[in-house]
Amino acid sequence: MVTESLTVRDNRTGVEYDIPITDGTIRAADLGKIKAADPANNEEGPGLAVYDPGFVNTASCRSSVTYIDGDKGILEYRGYPIEQLAENSNFLEVSYLLVHGALPTKEEYDAWVHEITYHTFVHENIKEFMQGFRYDAHPMGMLMASVGAMSTFYPDAANISDPDNRRLQIIRLIAKMPTLGAWAFRHAQGKPYVYPDNDLSYTGNFLSMLFKMSESKYAPDERIEKALDTLFILHADHEQNASANAVRSVGSTQVDPYSSVAAGVGALFGPLHGGANEAVLRMLRRIGKVENIPAFIEGVKAGNERLMGFGHRVYKNYDPRAKLIKQQAYNVFEVTGTNPLLDIAQELEKIALEDEYFVKRKLYPNVDFYSGLIYEALEFPPEMFTVLFAIGRTPGWLSQWLELVQDKEQKIARPKQIYTGERGLNFVPRDVRWA
Ligand code: CMC
Repeated sequence: MVTESLTVRDNRTGVEYDIPITDGTIRAADLGKIKAADPANNEEGPGLAVYDPGFVNTASCRSSVTYIDGDKGILEYRGYPIEQLAENSNFLEVSYLLVHGALPTKEEYDAWVHEITYHTFVHENIKEFMQGFRYDAHPMGMLMASVGAMSTFYPDAANISDPDNRRLQIIRLIAKMPTLGAWAFRHAQGKPYVYPDNDLSYTGNFLSMLFKMSESKYAPDERIEKALDTLFILHADHEQNASANAVRSVGSTQVDPYSSVAAGVGALFGPLHGGANEAVLRMLRRIGKVENIPAFIEGVKAGNERLMGFGHRVYKNYDPRAKLIKQQAYNVFEVTGTNPLLDIAQELEKIALEDEYFVKRKLYPNVDFYSGLIYEALEFPPEMFTVLFAIGRTPGWLSQWLELVQDKEQKIARPKQIYTGERGLNFVPRDVRWA
């Protein structure tokens, strides 16, 4: 029995419709039943549709992966607050949680870590293929291409209806992303690619593949390892963001997960999605010193530019990830020495949090405000920032993909359009048009 509903009166026809409300939504297909007679064609006319560029007010799926309350600044993976996961867990355990929906037992955890650790190597031809990129190739372009290319190395991945097969591809993807990301980094530097070291942790091995030179064994600094691992946790999922939506949209065609995740990498590459931390660094450098902040803030308030790393479409409160990243920044600077831009960032934050312009608009630091400072302290060039984001986001993309392929309600993603072009023109042959 429907207890909540929406009554709509179509003023074109005078007909009233009762549309059920479930979970705070109405079904777009129910609106399709609202039709106005089209006397010119003696037809019923098309059903009513919604127009929503950017899906600003459209739910595309039911999901139990990630919960966000933007007003309260809450982010939970599978019901667990991000703060508790960042404090007490590690990236591989969080990946297990996202993919399986529950925390692992000791046996499940050990098996998961073992499997991921022993899938870190990639086929030698992938290495050769990556070496073929130009010396100045953007590492995100290299990552996107090599993730997509993996579908040719694992054609079995096309069998997406087999749960064991899906699990194997998920393990392969989580395991191999750091290898591909690190090799894209080494490529830009003209340094030899470093093979995975399966004695190290997930993040320790990634650091080894990034920074190892002639030493026989790379020993990562534990504080850096922990900071990077925490950053991966904080980036692991963020419900239906642009790249998760790209993964789901491509995955809805029932293609293999490598092709779907390559689409996610492509979406993340865009400056509106993965690239804001780089913009924060550029802004801080431009401000240059604390004394220049008041003039900069005045410029922002006058609408000349934006305070990068502030504001969020969903969070109208402090982004919970920003708080945790700020803590990690201090841990990293203990090892690397402080970044002089930190003083500017902190002072900017202090002023902005008290200033009426920002308070009134609910503008708070977001995930990107401090992360670029950490990445820079770790000597990553700005082009690598989004690659780090992509490695962290991989279990999230895969959890969204897994949910999609098991969801009986899902169909191939195929939006409607409002056609604005010509109709029924008669083709005029070239010899007539050009005569
Ligand atoms: N600096 C100054 N003013 C701002 C800012 C900012 N960073 N962000 C929003 N505003 C103002 C904006 O001018 C508008 O003011 P008014 O009402 O007077 O016109 C009001 O706040 C609302 O802004 P909006 O553009 O309608 O908000 P939105 O939800 O469409 O935009 C945003 C969200 C993240 C694109 C925006 O806040 C922004 O451009 N921030 C800076 C870029 C940034 O840090 N992006 C990273 C986002 S987090 C990444 C992730 O989660 O993946």
